[in-house]
Amino acid sequence: MLATIEHALARHAGELGALLPILHDIQDEIGHIPEQAVAHIARALNLSRAEVHGVVTYYHHFRTVPAGRHVIRICQAEACQSMGSEALVAHAQRHLGCAVHATTPDGAFSLEAVYCLGLCASSPALSINDAVHARMTPQRFDALVANLVKSDS
Ligand code: FES
Repeated sequence: MLATIEHALARHAGELGALLPILHDIQDEIGHIPEQAVAHIARALNLSRAEVHGVVTYYHHFRTVPAGRHVIRICQAEACQSMGSEALVAHAQRHLGCAVHATTPDGAFSLEAVYCLGLCASSPALSINDAVHARMTPQRFDALVANLVKSDS
């Protein structure tokens, strides 16, 4: 983990606005931004820990804890909202038993919001582990989740 953090810092050394690219690199590699990284980044960029922590927590994209095995992102942008994505989110929260920006207690699923997946004409849309699915319904959602549960067992 430390090597990943140091590598990200070295890759963006001297860049203006390096904080966000560094955070992206670390999350891409580790899956979240560990507390240990905040201190390293703050020291390297001559920022306070609070400043780095503030950026990490401001952007929902960044996690401070590891994600679930499957990350479900439901689009909440306008086209999907007009086609019922809010109701789909409510269904997903009930079905999974976890809130948006949270992970199920068994670590199987993380539920996230996303703002446009490029499938506006086929909304509502979501992604599961970076595979996109259009014209989503609660029934299709349940079937996709059931398949993932089955594949995990
Ligand atoms: S608004 Fe949802 S995919 Fe574009």
